[in-house]
Amino acid sequence: MKIKVLFVCLGNICRSPMAEGLMISKIKARGIDHIDVESAGTSNYHIGEMPDNRMLETAAQNGIILESRARQFSMLDFEKFDYIIAMDKSNKADILKLARNDEERKKVRLMRDFDDKSDENDVPDPYFGGHKGFEYVFDILERSSENLLNSILENRT
Ligand code: 4NP
Repeated sequence: MKIKVLFVCLGNICRSPMAEGLMISKIKARGIDHIDVESAGTSNYHIGEMPDNRMLETAAQNGIILESRARQFSMLDFEKFDYIIAMDKSNKADILKLARNDEERKKVRLMRDFDDKSDENDVPDPYFGGHKGFEYVFDILERSSENLLNSILENRT
């Protein structure tokens, strides 16, 4: 049985595609084949779109090619995924509005719960900012995804 991880942000064109790309790259590098990773957005703003150019560039500068297309989070994702990782508190609240029971609610976590370098709760939304914001987000996602992966493998989450 595969372990299934879903990263969720608002637009599914900046933060969650980057988290997905980082996790896929880490899984490949470690030769792991029993974890599947996807991403989604709580909004319908960018359905079908590639990630934002600025996120694509930041990813590429770090050797990661992002290949996702934006899609909207749906109630069915609670059945498909074991871990649903929200980028900020507002994403988490929107996801939880669709949960039907405690089993579903328990799957939802904040990405920065896995950031061992900060007590901040949110991966900040870089969409309306400049390039620096994308690098800042990349660094948060890099260390949080590493810790999340270790945590999943050790069954600690
Ligand atoms: P994301 O960033 O949630 O990290 O994909 C955003 C992308 C688009 C918008 C907001 C945030 N938007 O308002 O269109």
